[in-house]
Amino acid sequence: MKKIVPLVLSAAFVFMAEGAGAQENASALKLAGQYGCTSCHNAEVKLVGPAFKSVAEKYAGQADAVDMLVKKVTNGGSGNWGRIPMPAHPQVGPENTKALVEWVLRGAPSK
Ligand code: HEC
Repeated sequence: MKKIVPLVLSAAFVFMAEGAGAQENASALKLAGQYGCTSCHNAEVKLVGPAFKSVAEKYAGQADAVDMLVKKVTNGGSGNWGRIPMPAHPQVGPENTKALVEWVLRGAPSK
């Protein structure tokens, strides 16, 4: 019994942590479809824009990446991945854009 309690507790903790993440990932994925991000981006492969996994790798450990990328998605621009510009996305709004960027920086998991 003494060994089982901590095991059950840590299992519950892992479950809760995964539960919250899965919900955030699912809603970010939905936003990415809704706002057309996925017509130019894929998690794994380069389409018109870079693969979201490559974006996550490029900015791993960079503290100001979220702010910089929120501005970039909102205002559009080119030069970090090549000459093709990303169009501006002011319609997404700051909160959804931040949720999308944080998801991209997690590697854009589908669940
Ligand atoms: C019309 C195609 C297109 C659409 C739609 C699009 N992107 Fe992009 N995206 C690009 C291109 C091209 C780049 C590379 C820009 C560069 O080289 O700096 C890019 C770059 C990015 C980057 C990396 C920026 C950097 O400076 O490293 C992120 C993050 C990103 N896109 C997220 C999004 C999100 C979120 C959406 C939806 C709201 C979206 N994109 C919609 C084409 C697109």
